[in-house]
Amino acid sequence: MNLTNRPRRLRSSALLRSMVRETRISADTLVYPMFVQEGTNVKEEIPSMPGQYRWSLDRVDEILHQVSDSGVKSVLLFGIPAQKDEVGSGAWQPDGIVQRAIRHIKAAFPQFYVITDVCMCEYTSHGHCGILCGHDVDNDQTLEVLAKTALSHVQAGADMVAPSDMMDGRVGRIRQVLDENGFVNTPIMAYSVKYASAFYGPFRDAAGSAPAFGDRKGYQMDPHNAREAILEAELDVQEGADILMVKPGMAYLDVLKSLKERFHQPVALYSVSGEYAMIQAAAAAGYIDRTAVICESAVCMYRAGADLLITYFAMELAQYIKEGRIG
Ligand code: PBG
Repeated sequence: MNLTNRPRRLRSSALLRSMVRETRISADTLVYPMFVQEGTNVKEEIPSMPGQYRWSLDRVDEILHQVSDSGVKSVLLFGIPAQKDEVGSGAWQPDGIVQRAIRHIKAAFPQFYVITDVCMCEYTSHGHCGILCGHDVDNDQTLEVLAKTALSHVQAGADMVAPSDMMDGRVGRIRQVLDENGFVNTPIMAYSVKYASAFYGPFRDAAGSAPAFGDRKGYQMDPHNAREAILEAELDVQEGADILMVKPGMAYLDVLKSLKERFHQPVALYSVSGEYAMIQAAAAAGYIDRTAVICESAVCMYRAGADLLITYFAMELAQYIKEGRIG
C-alpha cells in the first residue's frame, strides 16, 4: 500500500507517544476540595462519597498530611457549622469553622495554597444560597453577606476566595470590599458558569445543604444554555474575576472549551461530587477499571482546556502523574 500519511507512525512506542502528547498535566494544577466540620474527634465518611470525609479541626491534620505527601498544593475548603440560621450567620463569624480551619492550616501547613468556597447554603437553615425574601433569594441583600463572608476568610488568611452562589454582581461587590480593606492582591476565582445540576447531589448530603423547598434554578444556570455561559463569564471578567470556573466537569466540557477560546483568564473546572460518586460506585460494582477511568476523565478535562482541575481524586491523580500513567 502506498500511503503517504500514516498517523500510526507517531503511536509506535510509549516514549514517542509521550513526546508528541498535546496535553500535559502537572500536580501543580490540582485542587483538593475538603469538608471541615464543627466538633471534636470527627472523621466521618460521607455515605454517598466513599473515600471522602468530614473532618473536625483536631483530626484534620491526618488528611492534610496525605494531601501534602501526594504533591497536591492547594485545597478548597467547605465548612459545616454546628448551627444554621435564616441568614447563614455562621458563614462570616471570625471564629466560624472555615475561618478557624484557615488559621489552623496556614499555621500548621504554610506550604498550602488555601482557597475557600464563599456561599451561604451550608449555613442557612433553608439551604438556599442567600438571604430569602419570601421564597426567593434576594440578590442584592445577599451580595452584602457574601462580601462579608469573603472578607472574613481573607482576614483569617485565605489565599483566594471562590464565590459559588451565582448571585448577579457578587464578584464586583467582593472585589470592592476586599480592596477597601487592603486586600487588593487576593485573587477571586469565580464559579462563573455554575449550572443547576443534579451532579451536586452527594455534596448536599455531605454538607447537609439541600434546599428545604424548591431548587436552585432561580440562580444557577439552565443546562440547556451555552451562550449564557459566555455572558456570565464576561460579566465576571468585567467585575474583576481572576480565574473563571465551569462546574460540573464531565458533562460540560463544551462550555469549558468555549470559555478557554474566548477569555485570557485561566479557566478552572470543578469535577463535582456526583462525578466522583459515579466512578466510585461503578468501580465498586466491578463495572469499570477504576484507575483507568479516573485517569482518562482527568486527561479529557485538561484536553478540553482546564488550566486548573478541582477534583476529589486530586491526590490519586498526583500519584498517577508521578507513576507516569498520565502527564
Ligand atoms: C455551594 C457549593 C456546592 C458545590 C460547591 N459549592 C453545592 C451546590 O451548589 O448545591 C457542589 C460541589 C460538588 O458537588 O462537589 N453552593
